[in-house]
Amino acid sequence: MQTYAISDQLTRKYLDSFMIRPEYIGSAAADTSAEYFGEVYQSPVMISTLSGMERVHEGGNVLLAQAADLTGTLDWNGVLPVEQGLAILKQGTRAVLSSKPIADMDAVCDMIRTYEQAGAKAFVMDVDFIFDPATGCVRNHPSFGQMATKGEAELKRMSECSSLPIIIKGVLSAHDAVICRDAGVKAIVVSHHMGMIDSAVPPVSVIGEIREAVGNDLVIFADCGIRSGSDAFKALVLGADGVLIGRPLMEPFKDGPEKVAEYLNRITNELRFCMSITGSPDLKHLNRRALVRKDF
Ligand SMILES: Cc1cc2nc3c(=O)[nH]c(=O)nc-3n(C[C@H](O)[C@H](O)[C@H](O)COP(=O)(O)O)c2cc1C
Repeated sequence: MQTYAISDQLTRKYLDSFMIRPEYIGSAAADTSAEYFGEVYQSPVMISTLSGMERVHEGGNVLLAQAADLTGTLDWNGVLPVEQGLAILKQGTRAVLSSKPIADMDAVCDMIRTYEQAGAKAFVMDVDFIFDPATGCVRNHPSFGQMATKGEAELKRMSECSSLPIIIKGVLSAHDAVICRDAGVKAIVVSHHMGMIDSAVPPVSVIGEIREAVGNDLVIFADCGIRSGSDAFKALVLGADGVLIGRPLMEPFKDGPEKVAEYLNRITNELRFCMSITGSPDLKHLNRRALVRKDF
């Protein structure tokens, strides 16, 4: 029961329910640079955690990561063989590497330490992959192996096994966000993993309540359905620190990382336009009056 379409439609509807109100007087061309985990990047619009990219273009995720380099953004990756993750780091990409929520926590901690030593910027785990939508039971995936549920103890263990920032992907409530924060997690990705569940709550619609609950204790990233600079702007004004884009990058990647970089740069330029026309000089000073909820 994977009905991506319904969850995507709900997210689209939610994003479209906000209008943007410009305030031109006194505004200036905006700066889109963003700081994550102590480093500065050119844009808060990034490649999502994608895996298996060799199916799209030879060179797979290692090649895709070069699009992040070309755009000066933080590179995110889905689950990869560790040697591929290391190849991404070896080419100098500033990257986030990932693991599925596998049962073997010793292996997870080994992977975190390996990536830390190789220069990764953070490590992400998608906790929304634990249960099999076909059975409702914990997954034993043919490629990724046995999954296991993750509670505060497991998150704490991941946070404490190295000094690499830990990011949890698949958080959709203040409840889960607070547990992540209390376990020492540094950031979350508010995401429904392209509709892992039917009629999923739009990730952008819960950013506000999560931000209210955790304040600035967690970096909040959001994905699912971000398709334009105005979508990115809305997510950022609603409280996200950065946004990730997944499926739309598959098509340009067929023609190489330059085309993906072009796509991402276009979204960043659209975001800059939204920021400039709303008197939002930079990401730390977004004009919260700029979003108006449609009631007609
Ligand atoms: C081919 C493909 C591979 C993906 N692999 C992963 C993965 O390994 N880990 C993960 O957390 N999400 C994975 N995702 C989900 C994306 O990171 C993202 O959450 C999802 O596509 C929603 O964003 P979008 O609406 O911009 O596509 C994958 C998505 C696609 C299309």
